[in-house]
Amino acid sequence: MRLVVIGSGYVGLVTGACLADFGHTVVCVDKDASRIDRLRHGEMPIYEPGLEVIVAQNVRDGRLSFTTDLAGSVTGADAVFIAVGTPSRRGDGHADLSYVHDAARDIARALQGNTVVVTKSTVPVGTGDEVKRIIHEHRQSSAFSVASNPEFLREGSAIQDFKHPDRIVIGVEDEHASTVMAEIYRPLFLNKSPILFTSRRSAELIKYASNAFLAMKVTFINEIADLCEKVDADVQEVARGLGADKRIGSKFLHAGPGFGGSCFPKDAMALAKTAQDHDSPLRLIETTIAINDTRKRAMARRIIRAAGGNVRGKTIAIFGLTFKPNTDDMREAPSISIIQALQDAGAHVNAYDPKGMDQARAFWSEVTFHASPYEAAENASAICILTEWEQFRALDLQRLEKVVAQPVLVDLRNVYSHEEARRFGFAYSGIGSRSSTPTHVIDLAAARDRLVEAV
Ligand code: UGA
Repeated sequence: MRLVVIGSGYVGLVTGACLADFGHTVVCVDKDASRIDRLRHGEMPIYEPGLEVIVAQNVRDGRLSFTTDLAGSVTGADAVFIAVGTPSRRGDGHADLSYVHDAARDIARALQGNTVVVTKSTVPVGTGDEVKRIIHEHRQSSAFSVASNPEFLREGSAIQDFKHPDRIVIGVEDEHASTVMAEIYRPLFLNKSPILFTSRRSAELIKYASNAFLAMKVTFINEIADLCEKVDADVQEVARGLGADKRIGSKFLHAGPGFGGSCFPKDAMALAKTAQDHDSPLRLIETTIAINDTRKRAMARRIIRAAGGNVRGKTIAIFGLTFKPNTDDMREAPSISIIQALQDAGAHVNAYDPKGMDQARAFWSEVTFHASPYEAAENASAICILTEWEQFRALDLQRLEKVVAQPVLVDLRNVYSHEEARRFGFAYSGIGSRSSTPTHVIDLAAARDRLVEAV
């Protein structure tokens, strides 16, 4: 099949590369000429494990190409995927659909033949109708279909998710679209991945409902973690017991500093707004958003407490800045507000992240970035693990203990245990167990100040 993917960002690039890998001929289009130029030279604009290899292979085999010429590539295509961004609209939290609408207009001008226009971008329910209306306005004579095919890719494991999905959701309103879409995904169907055909509106809503549900699940376990700390239970044990129930499932039950990323926060907010507009408020989702926002500030207070209660003039080492491992994406990363709060409290922040430091530099002034966790830990009054990168799982705690000012480990991803940390002389604060709540380290400077004041 001849396919076009509009938007060579995260979703577009992974989709284009994987569809080419299935054997289709794919043209990836982007307005950003320098991005296209870099892609033509084999340079990836994002970090995603495995992507570079698939792109190189399919370019070499002549199935994948990159262009800025939208009109030239759309003409005669079997299907055109819209994979442009849908950021939060400034001010009201609704999804900003201007890029989707622009793409629909550009497609309309070039359309010839019976092409299926597929929205891959995460778009509010009813957007497919609007895309259809826009195209129809410009191309009344052409036959075309509009389908919805939401993506469920996780950053860091997007290729695996694309090739081995739990399900493929396809929202269609006509026979031609369902035939073309079934043909596009035939290689996966042969692998027994279920294809779920639904109405276009249901498909659009499935995407938002999935992300909002997962965000709610993460938030639920985070609140249970807080309770565990109060009642002397252990959230990891509770999660194991809870997740063993097949109706609940064990995934997305890792307590942490709160969810981030380019999807959960934005999509939960957009769904809540849609629901309010339709006079059917989703109070669970509204509460999830509020709890998650508060949690990040609470995490900063936890670090300050663990470091002795006063971090003015002290150094805090942050290990991991991206919102999750295996990505360089900093969007809505918990590190953004946590580091800001630490700086507001007077701390100096040393940071290290395996892939995210280039993107991270824009977020704060005066953070010192280091080439290794050991450098970042020098003279620190607390080390804080914010992202569970693989390389933080086997840190040389003995070496770290020698370079810090104060051996305090705040582990917001529960990578270590209280016992492991204590063995190397660290006071440990993890998430969701009483033995891992902040162990107070006596802040000698603060104690002296208090004494001087009292005298
Ligand atoms: C999410 C969804 O998982 C994908 O299915 C979806 O396609 C994608 O959004 C999207 O809409 O594009 P992603 O944002 O890459 O994928 O990341 P997740 O792995 O879902 O993690 C989201 C956030 O939840 C991260 O901040 C992560 O640290 C946090 N999380 C996740 C936890 O705190 N605990 C968990 O158990 C799982």
